[in-house]
Parts: sequence; C-alpha cells; structure tokens
Amino acid sequence: MKYDVHVFVCANQKAEGKKCCTETFGNEAVAKLRQKVKEAKLPLKIRVQKAGCLDVCQQGPALAIYPEGTFYGNLNLEMLDQIVDEHIIKGQKLAAHLLEDES
Ligand code: FES
Repeated sequence: MKYDVHVFVCANQKAEGKKCCTETFGNEAVAKLRQKVKEAKLPLKIRVQKAGCLDVCQQGPALAIYPEGTFYGNLNLEMLDQIVDEHIIKGQKLAAHLLEDES
C-alpha cells in the first residue's frame, strides 16, 4: 500500500442552494490537515488531498479516511485537529462525526 493513511476531503461545489461541502471548505481543510500532519511528525506515510463529491452531500462538509474507509460528516475547520489527534494518531474514531453507516 502506497500510504498508511489517505485522507480525501470533499471540495465539491454544487449549484447555489444545494447542500454540499464547498470548494472553500475543501481547500481550507486540506491545508489545515496537511499542516497538522506535518507538525505531528508521525512515522506514517500520510496523504491528504482534495476530492470530488463523496456522495454524502446531505451530511457535508465531509471527508473519508482510507484504508479503512471511515467517513466523517457535518464537519467544520475546528474539528479537523480532533480528526488528526484522535483518528490518525490514536486510531480512535470520533463517534460524534461518523456518518450513519459508520456508527
Ligand atoms: S458535495 Fe461533498 S459529499 Fe457531495
């Protein structure tokens, strides 16, 4: 496997008025996650990248973490530190932000 952790952040922008994640959130989230991962200096190969629609638009903003395929939704930028600290570093999923079929 190329990466130990691969994070896909939805940066899809839909037409005005439709629930989605937004390019703005996606870009800011990717930058924040990359910075946090870099600062953590983890002994893991981690890639954080923008993605298109993850097909969970009603629960966006959203991201997915592989290889396990964990989906988080209803995010804001402040929650991203927790995702790195708890999920990526400690391996503990954040129950409050897991999407329905994850809990
Ligand atoms: S627009 Fe983000 S999941 Fe669809």
